Amino acid sequence: SEEMYLHYHGLIVPKETHSYESLEFAQGFKFEDDDVLAVTYPKSGTIWMQEILPLVLNGGDLTPIHTIPNWERVPWLEEKQLARVVDKLASPRALVSHFPYNLMPPSFCTSKAKVIYVMRNPKDIMVSSYYFHQMAGFLEDPGTFDEFMDKFLEGKVMFGKWTDHMKSWRNSELGDRIMYITYEEMAQDLPAALRRISDFLGCNLTEEVIQKVAEHCSFKSMQNNNMSNFSLIPKVYMDHDKSPFLRKGNAGDWKNHFSSEQLTRFTSVISKELEGESFSLPWSL
Ligand code: PPS
Repeated sequence: SEEMYLHYHGLIVPKETHSYESLEFAQGFKFEDDDVLAVTYPKSGTIWMQEILPLVLNGGDLTPIHTIPNWERVPWLEEKQLARVVDKLASPRALVSHFPYNLMPPSFCTSKAKVIYVMRNPKDIMVSSYYFHQMAGFLEDPGTFDEFMDKFLEGKVMFGKWTDHMKSWRNSELGDRIMYITYEEMAQDLPAALRRISDFLGCNLTEEVIQKVAEHCSFKSMQNNNMSNFSLIPKVYMDHDKSPFLRKGNAGDWKNHFSSEQLTRFTSVISKELEGESFSLPWSL
């Protein structure tokens, strides 16, 4: 794992996609007031936002999602790709990030850039991440599901503990610059979620456009979009035969994976770490 990960402010991040240069580039990144950033703990809905944001920001124009791979269309703030594509980004720019709030660059804090923080039930995150570690050649083998649960709960996974990530962004006090949304809400009623996002960004989309965007951001459409399903990535980095990146797209798949003992262990660790926090979770653990 020493060969596969970099250490950065107490977090580990994969070397394939991150370097000290890219992490420093993120620190020096100059946010514009009209930039839009979607922040996620890994496996919470990142690439879904890479589909949604360009469509919402461009009145439903399909060109970006059909011509630009998602990692260039809405790049990760902290990844190597950003320096290569930053000058090509259309305005208003959309980015994604897995950074906890404390790693956001100074220019983010002084800008008026808006943030959408996407949350997902941590049990489903863990399941999704478990399969992702099997298919991604640049991530450590997850071991058994039980072993991976220990790593996840101890924060020995990329971007650290889920609870630390949540605490940092839920307590960020960014006022009307930040909107919180859940993966579950998006899965349950995508048009309603898109209306919220569009209102937050001041995009005023018509109902017709909302329906069109929803259709193109569906799990099925994204599975069929080569610019979004990572089929352009060589098999040594992502082996979709082991597990597709767009794997199931459901809320509640954890029920097919957790034993009752694992559920008890997981719930007790997470609830203990969130004890005394002023925010409440949008789901029961
Ligand atoms: S990453 O590696 O952090 O960028 O992964 P991320 O994109 O955050 O999360 C991947 C999971 O999101 C699911 N996904 C979707 N679900 C429903 N609808 C749509 N349109 C959609 N797009 C992505 C994806 O399938 C992964 O979840 P699982 O549970 O593994 O299927």
